[in-house]
Amino acid sequence: MAVTAKTIDLSVDLGFLGLRNPVLTASGTFGYGLEFEPYLDLEKLGGIVVKGLFYKPREGNPPPRLVETASGLINAIGLQGVGVEAFVAKVLPKLRSIGTPIIVNVCGADEDEYAAVVEYLDKQEGIAGYELNISCPNVKKEGLCPALSPQPTFDLVKRIKAASRRPLITKLSPNVTSIVEIAQAAEEAGTDAVALVNTFLAMAIDLETRRPKLGNVYGGLSGPAIKPIALRMVHQVASRLEVPVIGMGGIMTGTDALEFLVAGASAVEVGTASFVDPDAAARIVDEIRRWCEAHGVAAVRDIIGTLKTT
Ligand SMILES: Cc1cc2nc3c(=O)[nH]c(=O)nc-3n(C[C@H](O)[C@H](O)[C@H](O)COP(=O)(O)O)c2cc1C
Repeated sequence: MAVTAKTIDLSVDLGFLGLRNPVLTASGTFGYGLEFEPYLDLEKLGGIVVKGLFYKPREGNPPPRLVETASGLINAIGLQGVGVEAFVAKVLPKLRSIGTPIIVNVCGADEDEYAAVVEYLDKQEGIAGYELNISCPNVKKEGLCPALSPQPTFDLVKRIKAASRRPLITKLSPNVTSIVEIAQAAEEAGTDAVALVNTFLAMAIDLETRRPKLGNVYGGLSGPAIKPIALRMVHQVASRLEVPVIGMGGIMTGTDALEFLVAGASAVEVGTASFVDPDAAARIVDEIRRWCEAHGVAAVRDIIGTLKTT
């Protein structure tokens, strides 16, 4: 049977969660989802990962908090957020009525706070899973960041997996020597999937004032500049882990997203692209469909992990 745009199957299966297509929004770049309703049909997305939530509301870092660089963006938002109680009271009721899987990005200053967030959210309906943000909320405290070494990663994932009734996706930091070791620690501790990459520790300087361009001095680099490194890391991790991998880092087009799938990701997240083009995630779904049609690919899941290295 001829492959047409209408017959193409874009669905992917993470094992614990089926998605209508492989495109999710990346945490922190898509608000709590509802802010983007004027720009795209939220039902078109594979899933929505909301901004990272601590238990209490947080102000984040002092401004300036965003700076543009060649092919990228450095942010030092510092995980500003409304906190779980306001999220559940004001955002979740509307968000869960959309019919697109909602994944909550979970943050904490320590293990107890991470556990408190999932325990609170576990009492609510309409959440498909948690994405555990184990990267540092404050890059000045990088030494305390669980994402930077295997044992703290293992301990945190184990604790949160035991505390929660929902699937857990562990989101990894790329600011490490061996991302595979950290991913394996998360897998051994029982994570249901891993997501990578978070942003790369970076800085920008204003030469005239000789001051850092960000209030926090350092921030996280995202966007097209990081895509080749993110692809390499996704390929390394997907080659070694049993659990599914969700890939991200500089995905701006359907072609970028498909490259991550070929590298071994079962789904992707779109981040910085939504700053350039607020309906980027929905456009990328259409671009994936068109590529599949042009290449006679009846089901997009068939291209996952098909990279030829020999
Ligand atoms: C402004 C901004 C805020 C972010 N906030 C979060 C967050 O709250 N939690 C998280 O896990 N990642 C956060 N991230 C990282 C993104 O989810 C994503 O991992 C990263 O930007 C790489 O993807 P991209 O190159 O497509 O943007 C943030 C990124 C940006 C640019």
